[in-house]
Amino acid sequence: MTRYDADIMNTQFNLPGILKPEPGAGNLTRITVTGPHANATIYRHGAHVALFQPHGERPVLFMSQQSQYANGKPIRGGVPVIFPWFGPHPTDATAPAHGTARLTDWNLIATAQRTDGVVELVFALPPFLQYRVAIGRQLELTLEVHNTSQSPLQFEEALHTYFAVSEIRQCTVTGLENARYDSKVEGVTGQSQGTAPIQFTAETDRLYLNTRATCVIHDPGWQRRIVVEKDGSDSTVVWNPWIAKAKAMPDFGDAEWPAMLCIETVNARGNAVTLAPGQTHALRATIRVEPA
Ligand code: BG6
Repeated sequence: MTRYDADIMNTQFNLPGILKPEPGAGNLTRITVTGPHANATIYRHGAHVALFQPHGERPVLFMSQQSQYANGKPIRGGVPVIFPWFGPHPTDATAPAHGTARLTDWNLIATAQRTDGVVELVFALPPFLQYRVAIGRQLELTLEVHNTSQSPLQFEEALHTYFAVSEIRQCTVTGLENARYDSKVEGVTGQSQGTAPIQFTAETDRLYLNTRATCVIHDPGWQRRIVVEKDGSDSTVVWNPWIAKAKAMPDFGDAEWPAMLCIETVNARGNAVTLAPGQTHALRATIRVEPA
């Protein structure tokens, strides 16, 4: 634990009874939030939201039991923050997948409780990133990129949300009707989704470009819908590793794939963002649960 971790354990950011900084898994510092609307847990490592649970609901986010919690490793599940590249690095095969933001300790720079009870935490990763996590009945995640440099800044980014589902094969996703996707699994580009809701019968890894649509996960097993609204995002990724890929991932349980689904709020490939010096871009995902 660093001096900084020790410092945030003091009362400076402590909304008494609501925020509790503490050593978490792998001795990584996390902040637990016991709010009037929901409970949450956020690790400084990656500014990683690992739990969001509105009162009276099941957890909304999936977390792998096999996740590693260690410096230099991503946390598996919850909401990895992806920046400045999505997937493999375009030119450097030795660079980590999905960028460096999820591997880095962020600074907690502000906390507040709004008059409506929503608890807000703001994390910063200099020189470019600020991340606001607002915990109410809904979870509102806002990643701001501010180009503090003297030259244009081009990047990809994602709020790589893992959702907990009762059984992936019984779930459907709506919102991406008629959108077009690239899929590494089938080796296709520009494929039309068609008009039917998405069903899951095999490994799924699709990058939908040029869509700002709200997506809804329909989960009949738990009789709920998870609604994912977004702003400042032109791409959506839908991912489930299925059997073989789950087995191949060291930090993911072999039998966990039926219990999760990623619907990711993204700007990637042709939707990468370019910011002039001094400009700011905000990527926002708003997540809520509704009865089915
Ligand atoms: C998804 C990608 O966003 O993340 C998948 O589309 C990838 O291709 C998945 O497998 C998980 O990536 P990682 O680096 O966390 O194992």
